[in-house]
Amino acid sequence: MTAPIETKIDAFSALPIFPTVVWATQLKPEISERINGTFTTLIEQARRNRTDLRAEGKWQTDQRLHTLPELDEFSDVVLGLCRHVLKADKIRYQDICITGCWANVGFQGSKHRPHAHPNNYISGVYYVTAPAGGNTINFFDPRPQAGVVVPPSDSPAPANSQKMTMEIRPGSLIMFPAWLYHSVDDNRSRGERISVAFNVMFKPFVSEMSAPNWRGNLQVTPD
Ligand SMILES: [Fe+2]
Repeated sequence: MTAPIETKIDAFSALPIFPTVVWATQLKPEISERINGTFTTLIEQARRNRTDLRAEGKWQTDQRLHTLPELDEFSDVVLGLCRHVLKADKIRYQDICITGCWANVGFQGSKHRPHAHPNNYISGVYYVTAPAGGNTINFFDPRPQAGVVVPPSDSPAPANSQKMTMEIRPGSLIMFPAWLYHSVDDNRSRGERISVAFNVMFKPFVSEMSAPNWRGNLQVTPD
């Protein structure tokens, strides 16, 4: 009989090189209640002015919600979380800013096809409401070649799936690399799903970060 492999080795390491990380957090109830109240009020006010809009499909607000003073607390949370991620990832940068922030109101049957958020570094979504049946978001494996051989698995796990579905609830805040494709399934509830999407980018980018991150040993240009 063959001896167990553990008897033949001293160490066995699994190195998650080139990882694709999705960051998930839940705001404290007292914070999310305040922020949700602000978003709800803004949407209700805008909705009152648009009697031509029907409560079907999906509504999207304009993309400058981060410029509203009443949403400063939300913007601070977003930027604080992004700085936390960048520090953990050991990224060197001068500053970051929110480049776009908008709310989505999704009625029964609404969905969002797979897409990414170009020209940003981190994207994310925050949930004001997330009715049962409309409380998930999907992320897709960015390595298309990983789908060439897909053996059966006993249960879905990051190492064996081309698509990962996350459950969310009101107050959930999810962040991910802006290039990561994601989608939202049909809202199968009768309730409205209100989410707030945002993009974050380095500021300044070209002047501080685009130059080569190395030095030559033969200087031609003046300092
Ligand atoms: Fe998105």
